[in-house]
Amino acid sequence: MTLDSTSSAKTLAMPRTTGKKIISASVRKKLERAAARVMNNAHAPYSNFHVGAAILLTNGKIFSGCNVENASYGMTNCAERTAIFCAVAQLGSNIEISAIAVTNDHGVACSPCGACRQVIYEFGPDAVVFFQGANGPKQAHITELLPEGFRLK
Ligand code: THU
Repeated sequence: MTLDSTSSAKTLAMPRTTGKKIISASVRKKLERAAARVMNNAHAPYSNFHVGAAILLTNGKIFSGCNVENASYGMTNCAERTAIFCAVAQLGSNIEISAIAVTNDHGVACSPCGACRQVIYEFGPDAVVFFQGANGPKQAHITELLPEGFRLK
């Protein structure tokens, strides 16, 4: 085995989560409840798939958002981005996302889409993401969902 393949094997075996941050079960529940509440406001006449998201900021504030669809499908805004844009509109861009929870009204697997992962990363490079996975509730660090996220710095 070459040195290179040894080191890449090690890298693969290592967890990519920072493992530094622990979000308590009660905070997770609180976020999931906020996400489920706002999900009822979703404008989803085309997909009939209602999604809610709630973000916890490092300053302790919680913002939530739902998906907002459009007859021109591509104009759709996902719940995650609605929640984040709402926080920026209220507080400005000097915010950091500590955690985000996503819920849907079908109880099916639903992790943030690629565009939302990049937006979560912009404001939460150390964010924990709670979502419904294929085998039940899941938790992942944003860099597990979006390795090598883009930063203009
Ligand atoms: N959707 C979200 O709001 N968040 C996700 O994480 C996945 C998908 C929305 C977009 C669209 O309104 C509907 O779900 C179906 O794709």
